[in-house]
Amino acid sequence: MRFHIITLFPETFDCYLSHSILGRAVENQKIELNFLNPRDFCNDPHKRIDNKPYGGGPGMVMKALPIIRAWEKASAIPFREKLLFTKKRKMKTILFSPGGRKFTNEDAKYFAKNFDDIILINGRYEGIDHRVVEVTGAELISIGDYVLTGGELASMVVIDSVARQIEGVLGKYESLEEERISSHEVYTRPEQFRFHGATYSVPEILLSGHHKKIEEWKKER
Ligand code: ADE
Repeated sequence: MRFHIITLFPETFDCYLSHSILGRAVENQKIELNFLNPRDFCNDPHKRIDNKPYGGGPGMVMKALPIIRAWEKASAIPFREKLLFTKKRKMKTILFSPGGRKFTNEDAKYFAKNFDDIILINGRYEGIDHRVVEVTGAELISIGDYVLTGGELASMVVIDSVARQIEGVLGKYESLEEERISSHEVYTRPEQFRFHGATYSVPEILLSGHHKKIEEWKKER
C-alpha cells in the first residue's frame, strides 16, 4: 500500500510513522510513504500557498492549483510500472475536513483490502479551495467531532488504522488478538501491587487456568 501525503508540514509525520510497528512496516516495504509538499508545486515566485476567501470571511484559504498538481503527480503511474505493464492500480483520494464523513475501523479494513494507493490531502488555514474536490474526486473524511488545526493528525490516524489491516504489518500474535472477541481490560505482572495504601490485584479468574471461563469473562468486559 502506498500512501501519498500532500502536506505543507511533512516533518510532523516523522516521529509517529518512523517508530514501532509502522516504522517496521515501512522498512519491510509493507507500506510506502510518499510526501508531496504543495509549496513545491506553486508557480508563484513568492511561493504563496494561500489567499483571502472570495465572498469574505475570516482566515486564509489554501489555493487549489498547487494541491491539484501535487495530486496529479501522486496519481501518475511510475515509469517503472508502466514499463512492466503491471495491473491497474486502485486509487482513493481523501481530503480531511471536520465536516466530512466519520472514519471508522470498517473503512480502514475496506481501504486496506480494496486500494493500492491512498492519496491524503491535508488542509490548513480555513480550508482548501473547493475546486480541489471537483478535480480530484476526493472523499471528505473527518476523524471525529472536533476541529483540529490541520489534517496531519487525521492522516496519521488513517495511515495507522489502515496499515494494521495489511497482512504482515502486525505480528502473528497481535493479528490473532484483533480477530478474537477480546476484552479491553488487560493485566500483566505483578499479580498484585500496593499504591498509596491500597492493594490492586489481577482478577482471580485470569489466574485460574480455566480457559473457557476466562474467554467468557473476556466477552463480558
Ligand atoms: N481537520 C480539522 N479537523 C478535522 C477532523 N476532525 N477530522 C479530519 N480533518 C480535520
